[in-house]
Amino acid sequence: MDWGIKNRLSRIINQRNGKGVMLAVDHGYFLGPTERLEDPKKTIKPLLQYADSLMLTRGVLRTCVDSESNIPIVLRVSGGTSILGEDLSKETITTSIEEAIRLNASCLALSIFVGSKYEHQTLSNLSKLVNEGEKYGIPVLAVTAVGKEMARDARYLALSCRIAAELGAHVVKTYYCENFEKVVEGCPVPVIIAGGKKLPEKDALHLTFNAIKDGASGVDMGRNIWQSDHPIEMIQAVRSIVHDGLSVQESIESFFLKKNLQSNELETLNR
Ligand code: 5RP
Repeated sequence: MDWGIKNRLSRIINQRNGKGVMLAVDHGYFLGPTERLEDPKKTIKPLLQYADSLMLTRGVLRTCVDSESNIPIVLRVSGGTSILGEDLSKETITTSIEEAIRLNASCLALSIFVGSKYEHQTLSNLSKLVNEGEKYGIPVLAVTAVGKEMARDARYLALSCRIAAELGAHVVKTYYCENFEKVVEGCPVPVIIAGGKKLPEKDALHLTFNAIKDGASGVDMGRNIWQSDHPIEMIQAVRSIVHDGLSVQESIESFFLKKNLQSNELETLNR
């Protein structure tokens, strides 16, 4: 692998332990002002110090992140669809490689929709992006998105992740599922997991713990962090599981119970 790609990747996945915590705030690119991400600047600022990298679009990067920040940027460069549109899988490449270089991106992120109507278009987008990234030493994160009628099971996710890696993605993001180790086994590049819809905090920490135990290289997590009533404690707890090998209970004790949360808040947490 090219030195530049390796160097940029090492800013996202720590070479010491092979793990990374990516904070995802790119949801607005098709969902608009998502709950608790209405003002991205406000959401991002207190969390940044606990993330290894930040995943977002160029618009939010330019307007909501301090240009003096040294957080590695994972730039979402696919889109062109909305939740109201014809088909979410009909994505195109929205941001040029020159723009990504100007923005000092450490990685490019693009969604693929295997099994969807526009499967071919999204896989072709990925191949083109990898070719561009390879030219300039910028790695590519393939986001395996799920079509409406697709099951999020190991068979389907393994298929998507493997195809992404075969087309040259340097990291793949997918969902945690039963038999997740099969997804990791079949994918020759690091696999990280999305958090998905907001869960009770304890469940999201279990998801993180199980994914790491089954071979994930980290998380690319959004809603389960910033939609929590305790986003700072949540990202710290996730981080402690990913990087320090804490158990779910240890992470809860370290980051929630020591903060004197009200008993009703703890009840939600322990659900
Ligand atoms: C949206 C994305 C998100 O970045 C990804 O799903 C992670 O966020 P969350 O943890 O909220 O699912 O790629 O398409």
